[in-house]
Order: sequence, then structure tokens, then C-alpha cells
Amino acid sequence: MKHIDIIDIFEKSEFLDREVTVCGWVRTSRDSKNMAFIELNDGTSLKHLQIVIDKAVMSDISEFMKLGTSLKVEGTVVKSAVAVDSVEINAKEISVLGVCPPEYPLQKKRHTLEYLRTIPHLRVRTNTFNAVFRVRSVVSAAVHEYFQSRRYVYVHTPLITASDCEGAGEMFKVTTIGYSNEYKNEEEYNADDFFGKRAALSVSGQLEGEVAAMALGTIYTFGPSFRAEKSNTPRHVAEFWHVEPEVAFAELPDIIEIAEGLIKHIINAVLEKCPDELKFFDAHFEKGLIDKLTSVANSDFAVMTYTEAIEQLKKADVKFQYPVEWGCDLMTEHERYISEEICKKPVFLTDYPKEIKSFYMKQNPDGKTVAATDLLVPGVGEIIGCSEREADLDKLLEAMKVRGMSVEEYEHYISLRRFGSVPHSGFGLGLERMIMYVTGIQNIRDVILYPRTVGSIY
Ligand code: 4AD
Ligand code: MG
Repeated sequence: MKHIDIIDIFEKSEFLDREVTVCGWVRTSRDSKNMAFIELNDGTSLKHLQIVIDKAVMSDISEFMKLGTSLKVEGTVVKSAVAVDSVEINAKEISVLGVCPPEYPLQKKRHTLEYLRTIPHLRVRTNTFNAVFRVRSVVSAAVHEYFQSRRYVYVHTPLITASDCEGAGEMFKVTTIGYSNEYKNEEEYNADDFFGKRAALSVSGQLEGEVAAMALGTIYTFGPSFRAEKSNTPRHVAEFWHVEPEVAFAELPDIIEIAEGLIKHIINAVLEKCPDELKFFDAHFEKGLIDKLTSVANSDFAVMTYTEAIEQLKKADVKFQYPVEWGCDLMTEHERYISEEICKKPVFLTDYPKEIKSFYMKQNPDGKTVAATDLLVPGVGEIIGCSEREADLDKLLEAMKVRGMSVEEYEHYISLRRFGSVPHSGFGLGLERMIMYVTGIQNIRDVILYPRTVGSIY
């Protein structure tokens, strides 16, 4: 269908005084004695294009005026009568592409995000979600730009896996048969299943990413990860998009530099390519958002050890719901206090107790901590989980033994330490959490097209 995108009508002066065809959905409309006005949106711009109808030229306009109706409009682009530096269209001919009845769930008023979650197929048509998805697209492209321009190889790791990377057991089982009494035990049941053994959706591409990095040097994966965590929080979804670089010949300080570089590259891309969207989020979701992002992009992130953070938390003049002691796993309230109150900016928290972290992390010489770091940011908490990997075969085997893990199941992974092992590091960035950070949106359910959470699937 030949037509011009609404964003081009606004941005390209060549259309002024010319006759054009535009298409879109009616966002609002207003009828007066001699004239009628329609705000049309085709998704290409946050701004609506005003269609001006002279009722002397067009009389039967009632169908055009209904919210949600899709229209094709032919007319002349003219300077706006009221808004400086803007244009509108004097309509010559309008045709209805699709009618929209009055029970259309999106009305003129501002709907709550909670209500909009119940209509994921329509909420995309609101300004909020238009802005979210444009930012999400720009962030995704920026991830690729960052790694591609540094010659990282983009690898696709399997989504169906037989091993549990994080060892937390929060995996969705993949099966083609239901368990039945016919099987003597689970082993027999698994043997009869599609793969002949237990399989699940991957929580992380890291283990296979390490395989690729041990050959290609620097790689990244960017795809969905799945977590069957029953945590019903504003920061967890069961299916999220995971950015995971893996870098050979890199120690913890090296990977921290790479992670900080990635976050800043993403922020700069959004600042540059989404100015209107950021203005919208700054006005409606987080006052001062643009200043925050500009300042984060131009200053160093903080680095602090876990041990130091525990000391600071114990000294803090606040009552936490969960008590703090060296060795405890940090809760969101702690993570947010560290980044929001102590550091007041993104902070890499390093050297966690080995007991609360995964088997693959490099053990520090102190025998108590691992060379791991989480990036904590104000407003969200953890957005990156990162570590240097244990490159020493014996130490890796020991860590697996302590956790009661099966050496057999991880044979390929372990043998990377047998055949020319090298220091290497990597991290995982949760795309949705990054988007929450750059938009100020507080709930992860509102930065993904279809959120999958415990007890809810639309
Ligand atoms: O900290 P996590 O569990 O680390 C890993 O999976 C490592 N294997 C990554 C690596 O080193 N290659 O997850 C990494 C990040 C978290 O910091 C968070 O941003 C995101 O993934 N994430 C989730 N995002 C939304 N919903 C969930 N349920 C998430 N679980 C993790
Ligand atoms: Mg983590």
C-alpha cells in the first residue's frame, strides 16, 4: 500500500505543501461545527499527526472519528495552525481500513499499567509501549554493535540442554511424555523420553559459550533464557533475553571493563537514537532520567568488595527486613541500598563468598571467596552476573564435588580444563532489567511483549 510513514511527514521538509497518503489508527478525535480533527498514529512516531477535515468538503465523517479505527488519508501537508514547527494534513479523501466498535478496550483516558497487562495484544498501541519497544529495539541493536565492532563472534547456544548451568535447579523440563506408573523410576522414564535422558530449557548459554570462547577467543550469545523461579517480583520473568559474552585470556578486572563499556555503549545509543522516548519516560516514569543516564555514561562505575559492602550495610541506619551477616546472600533491599545510598551510582560488587555462588567461578587465594561480580544499579538492583571462570581442573572438580554435582554430566565442560586451559571470564546481562534501567519502568512485565511469570501466561 503506497503511503508515507508519519515520522517522515514530521521530519522531512520535502513533504510540505505536497499531497501525500498516510495510514494509521485514530488515537483521538474532535468534532466542531465546521471542522473536525483526528489525531492519527501509525506506530512510527510517538507524536500523532493531526488530520484536519473541512466539513464542507466531507460530510459523512462519523466512522472516521471512532477511537481505534484504522484509516487511509489522502491530503496536503501544511504548517500547523497552532503548534509551531509542526505540520498537519488537510484531508482530501479518507477511507476506513478497519472499523473499531465502542467497546474497544483502549479509551482516551490514561490506563494503569496493571490494566494494560490484561490486554497485551492491545497495550502495544499506547505511547508507553510504543516508546518501550522502540528503546528495546535500539538497546538490542546496540548490544550487537558493541560486540561486532570489537570482532566478537555471535554464537547461538542451544535452548534445550541436559545440564544446569546455575545449579539452582530452577529449570523447565522438556518432555514429550507424561510420567506414568508404568515406569519403575524416574531414570527409566527419562530413558524412554525424546532425548533418552532428562532435558530442560536452558537458564544460561554460558557453558556452551565457554566451549566457543575456547576456540574463537571472544564470543557472545544473545537469546532467551528460562527460569522456573517461583519468585513473583517486579524483576523476575520466566523467559528473559540474555546477553552473554565469554572472553578468553581475560581476568576479572578485564571483564569488568568490558561490562562497563557495554552498559555505557547501550546508554549512549539510547540517548542518541531515542530522544523523544527518553523525554516521555523522564516526564511520566522517572524524573531526571535523562540527566541520570548522561551522568552514568560519563563517569566511572564504583567497585566494592562484598566484604566491604557487608560492613557498610551493618553500619547503615536502616532496618532491613533480612538481617545482614558475612556469608548471606544479598536481597534486593540490600543491593538497592548499596547502589542507591552508599555508592549513588552503578557498582560492581566483587569477591562474593563461594558458598552463595556457582560452581564454575574462580576460587580466590583466600579460600573463602570467588572472583565474581554483580553489577548493581540504582532503582533496579542486579542487572549483570559476572565472573572469572575456574580454569584449574582440580579446583573445578572439587567445587562440583562439594555441591554434589555429577562429573559425568559436565564431561565436555570439564575437559576444557584438560586441553589447553586458559584464564577466561564472562557475564550475563538481563536485557529486560537493562531496559527497566534506561526507561525508569518499575515492573519487568512492562518491558516485554508477553511476560511469562509464575501462574500467568497470556
Ligand atoms: O546472575 P545470573 O543467574 O548469571 C548467569 O546466568 C550466568 N551464567 C551469566 C554468565 O556469566 N554468562 O543471570 C544473569 C543476569 C542477571 O543479572 C539478570 O539481569 C538476568 O540475567 N536474570 C533475569 N532477568 C529476568 N528474570 C529472571 N528470572 C532473571 N534471572 C536472571
Ligand atoms: Mg545473579
